[in-house]
Amino acid sequence: MSKKFDDALHTQTLSEDGSYTAYSKEYEEHYHSTRDGALFESMKKHVVPAFNVIQKDEVNILDICYGLGFNTLATLLYIEENFPKKKIHIYSPELDSSVVKSLVHFKYPKVFEKYKKVITALSERGVYASDKLYIELFFGDAREYILKFKNKFDIVYQDPFSPSTNPILWTKEYFRDIKDAMREEGVLTTYSIALKVRVALHENGFYLYLNEGRDYRVATVASRKKLEQYKSVDMQHKIACNPGIKSLRDSDV
Ligand SMILES: C[S@@+](CC[C@H](N)C(=O)[O-])C[C@H]1O[C@@H](n2cnc3c(N)ncnc32)[C@H](O)[C@@H]1O
Repeated sequence: MSKKFDDALHTQTLSEDGSYTAYSKEYEEHYHSTRDGALFESMKKHVVPAFNVIQKDEVNILDICYGLGFNTLATLLYIEENFPKKKIHIYSPELDSSVVKSLVHFKYPKVFEKYKKVITALSERGVYASDKLYIELFFGDAREYILKFKNKFDIVYQDPFSPSTNPILWTKEYFRDIKDAMREEGVLTTYSIALKVRVALHENGFYLYLNEGRDYRVATVASRKKLEQYKSVDMQHKIACNPGIKSLRDSDV
């Protein structure tokens, strides 16, 4: 196994909150917003808003896609600090198994040091299990993986590369399959505020909300049930103001 993370396609980049993310030369994009910071973005745009809504003792999470594992690891940290009794099951597809294998050499933030065993197990075997935690990675296409699940997920972290770079994970048909994989009370979090993404979610019956806070750019929370915790996005109004707007379709990408 290589002794370093950086290779011909990936390089580590220091982000604004002091945590490292990576740059993908293949997608020509960073794995996280360097301005918001990798750890901060995971916490504020995914983990915290999701657990604000989902308050069950046992939670099933779909983490699209594993990448550097920040959303999964930030979940472990948040749960340990706030809800140590919860049982968490995380399912995460990732196309690039070589990046996951090299994560044992990634410069993670200090707060993730205690998850070395988890990082190593996922990197070497793609699975980690303990009494309150189950994590399973799938090395392959997320589109294929999500079809295996029906009515299962309480939380979906929608965190692929951007819609312009990786459109196949942002289409109307993709969100239909995500909806089918989610429970009725489930919640989806994403950094994207693109109108065509929101329209694709809206066309599948999701309600759209603003995830706003200090020190990070606004993000989106989507839910199959109405939420009280967040300010709603008026989709009728947005669509009326942008009459030409269309969701991405599988046939377009
Ligand atoms: C923005 S990164 C994910 C960052 C990750 N959530 C984290 O916290 O570190 C996007 C990831 O999606 C993966 N990917 C791209 N297309 C995919 C597909 N069709 N199925 C599964 N993974 C895919 C890329 O290899 C990349 O690792």
